[in-house]
Amino acid sequence: MAQQEDVFKKIVSHAKEYGFVFQSSEIYDGLAAVYDYGQNGVELKNNIKRYWWDAMTLLNENIVGIDSAIFMHPTIWKASGHVDAFNDPLIDNRDSKKRYRADVLIEEELAKFDAKIEKEIAKARKRFGDAFDEQQFRTTNARVIEIAEKRDALHARFAKAMNDNNLEELRQIIIDQEIVCPISGTRNWTDVRQFNLMFRTEMGSTADGSMTVYLRPETAQGIFVNYLNVQKTGRMRIPFGIAQIGKAFRNEIVARQFIFRMREFEQMEMQFFVRPGSELQWFQKWKETRLRWHKALGLGDAKYRFHDHDKLAHYANAATDIEFEMPFGFKEVEGIHSRTNFDLSQHEKFSGKKIQYFDPELNESYTPYVIETSIGVDRMFLSVLCSSYEEQALENGETRVVLHLPAPLAPTKCAVMPLVRKDGLPEKAREIVNDLKFDFATHYDEKDSIGKRYRRQDAIGTPFCITVDHQTLEDNTVTLRERDSMQQSRVNIADLHKLIHDRVSINSLLRKLS
Ligand code: GAP
Repeated sequence: MAQQEDVFKKIVSHAKEYGFVFQSSEIYDGLAAVYDYGQNGVELKNNIKRYWWDAMTLLNENIVGIDSAIFMHPTIWKASGHVDAFNDPLIDNRDSKKRYRADVLIEEELAKFDAKIEKEIAKARKRFGDAFDEQQFRTTNARVIEIAEKRDALHARFAKAMNDNNLEELRQIIIDQEIVCPISGTRNWTDVRQFNLMFRTEMGSTADGSMTVYLRPETAQGIFVNYLNVQKTGRMRIPFGIAQIGKAFRNEIVARQFIFRMREFEQMEMQFFVRPGSELQWFQKWKETRLRWHKALGLGDAKYRFHDHDKLAHYANAATDIEFEMPFGFKEVEGIHSRTNFDLSQHEKFSGKKIQYFDPELNESYTPYVIETSIGVDRMFLSVLCSSYEEQALENGETRVVLHLPAPLAPTKCAVMPLVRKDGLPEKAREIVNDLKFDFATHYDEKDSIGKRYRRQDAIGTPFCITVDHQTLEDNTVTLRERDSMQQSRVNIADLHKLIHDRVSINSLLRKLS
């Protein structure tokens, strides 16, 4: 684990050193849990968004996109339940004066049991070698059974406390489990209390009468309140979906792990409107569809798992997370929720406007049910970055840092390099750049030795380097170097476009999905 933490620290500094992610307001000592994306980060982020947007709107003829405003009428947040119930249970340690989420402290405790079980399994696997049967070991080994029982008991108690919104019980669990503050090491805890996560601001001048508005904590409500507009103007028939990408804001108290939990972040959300009664089939379908979208990136199928919710929001009848294995454990990247007709019904009630769908096949009107898929762009970015980072030992004894980014997501697709800065090679290289740049993000680089230039591109995950040498002037061929294998081949300039396109286009990912 300590080793994984070291790797994570290296990834964070790599992200800064190579222009992916900077601390916001750094020259003023930073603003906690707010980050800026640099010259490479913004490209990677845009490519992730493009992949999601196209997968939603190009591959599904019944999904359209919108871009709603961040500011919305404050009653929307009353209707959605965010004003009254968008809270985190917080607890303070009196000695360190540090504040924690009570549920997170308990979840971390649960994860310790899982880690203990995994350790036992790893030991046994080493002992028994090929003959090891994990399933049998889990169900028969006395030590593993004992840990699993303790874990399940704690889990059941925690789930009940969360479901009952029982803050005293949450505190009692923390006391009974002897959870200590990581800073002070003491168990001197305050009561648990609820804290609303929405940021507020004032709209309009006080003289005119101002009103309190909120920075949206999710993009979803912008979709719900535009449901009628889109359905009518787009003549959409159920089932259909509305997709949106945009910023969201939450006053997170526990802001840790770099861009994993931010106060300003970006979401890609899609609300899919269906007939009442069909929602659980659609929930299943969207679970599968979304997992396929993730796996098509090739980051490793074993890095994903579903985590079904113990605590369902009062309006949901099913919910799951897609978790990704980060260096700090399996963590939620995306949520898939069956939200019933809660949101549309609430907006109907609070706005007084009829929000219904007339189903011509059933010849009846109803409030549609909704399946939501909601993924954080920044968490997706982090999962791509973490799983791509490698410090690779080379045969010649050197080490290179390489980002094995999925080629369609890479900020730069190819770098063109004249072997030397003379003899007409730079001019020839520029000619190639001027041709490729219309279709691919292309760099020109002539500084330093060719080896150093390759390393620079490896570090930002550029899939291809194209080297122009004296032979190029004679026969119009170049050296094409591939990032992961470092293999070099001699190819004709005329073939470059197709060779690169086949590997780096977002289309190549989308085709895996349909
Ligand atoms: N509309 C449903 C919704 O917002 P959520 O589970 O609260 O559901 C969805 O958030 C996704 O948004 C999460 O899976 C995560 O990827 C991302 N997300 C939520 N809070 C975040 C934060 N503070 N920082 C970064 N990403 C966050």
